[in-house]
Amino acid sequence: MSTQALLKTYKLGDLELKNRVIMAPMTRGRADNEEKKPTRELHAEYYKQRASAGLIISEGSQISEDAVGYINTPGIHSKPQIEGWKEVTSAVHDADGKIFIQLWHVGRMSHPDFHGGELPLAPSPVNPNAKSFTPEGFKDTVAPREMTIDDIKQTIADFKQAAKNAMEAGFDGVEIHSSNGYLFHQFFNATSNHRNDEYGGSIENRAKILFEVLDAVKEVMPENRIGIRLNPSMHGLFGMTMDEETIPTFDYIIEKLNEYDLSYLHLSEPFSDVSEISFAETHIAKRYRPVYNGTLMINSNFDQEKGNKVIEDGDADLVAFGKPFISNPDLAERFAQDVELDPWDEDTFYSGGEKGYTDYKVKTEREGVLN
Ligand SMILES: Cc1cc2nc3c(=O)[nH]c(=O)nc-3n(C[C@H](O)[C@H](O)[C@H](O)COP(=O)(O)O)c2cc1C
Repeated sequence: MSTQALLKTYKLGDLELKNRVIMAPMTRGRADNEEKKPTRELHAEYYKQRASAGLIISEGSQISEDAVGYINTPGIHSKPQIEGWKEVTSAVHDADGKIFIQLWHVGRMSHPDFHGGELPLAPSPVNPNAKSFTPEGFKDTVAPREMTIDDIKQTIADFKQAAKNAMEAGFDGVEIHSSNGYLFHQFFNATSNHRNDEYGGSIENRAKILFEVLDAVKEVMPENRIGIRLNPSMHGLFGMTMDEETIPTFDYIIEKLNEYDLSYLHLSEPFSDVSEISFAETHIAKRYRPVYNGTLMINSNFDQEKGNKVIEDGDADLVAFGKPFISNPDLAERFAQDVELDPWDEDTFYSGGEKGYTDYKVKTEREGVLN
């Protein structure tokens, strides 16, 4: 038995995780095919290589055509995509791993080039003044079209159907991507949500869509297989601007998530230095551990030492690692065997093909090292 906190087993609802080293969701732009489906050669191989993680969370996967915002990201809304994901889930399960899919709608972070010239959908017509990664390279984002109530209802239905598809594809669960400046986050923050109907104005109204999606999704799958991702102190990135009401909004959301029996709440520490922003929270795990009663997963810029410490200090139960998993498929074993980590190559994060994707080396003994 390992004494490292990261390598202890964990009971996640009805799932038994073999360790607490979680693979964070990461878009890799490898679904370079007409159907935008994952493939056996690339995706199944990539995720299988990383199956010694306690849990893998897949790359963000669009829940509909409307939801897409980056080139070559896989979807979970068509038959070929479900079939493609089956290759992935069975490869991971054969390697004794567990995998959730991240369900994604980018909202205003998309571009008309993805929608036949139509504007992307968002809570309000506020341009994030960011860049969208289109088939023709990076382009400036535009002011999106304000979603109608029917658009919102359709989006909720799309999330529900995507969750159903995910179950059919053999996933162990889903993570709803409600962070990083995408659709839900655009509803939460007053700077991107200027609505004056039931989805805007008050904190409760701005958070409403997330709970409606949760209520819809839990009709088609067990509640304890649904995770939620939030990034409360995201500021100056992905078009997000915090204000005085941002943290109180997340306080409300996280408190209310206690009414659900979720698989986990996945939080990120700030992605940028927010120490000068008076209304930002600089210590996310510390603030929300006492608020949230269920499993708390923490992410962003953790290494082995910090990961062990955050669990030992009681500030989180699980730690999600992003970039370290790109270049170290055997990350959990490397922690167990104290093997040095290999560096990642940013140039191949989204570049397509196996280079920088499935060609990173395993440098550890793979058997018998984890609890
Ligand atoms: C190449 C890349 C792609 C990412 N794609 C996603 C994504 O699809 N969904 C998501 O929630 N976060 C995404 N992220 C953010 C990561 O999940 C994670 O929060 C971030 O990398 C910080 O963790 P780290 O310091 O361990 O890398 C991505 C990060 C990287 C580097």
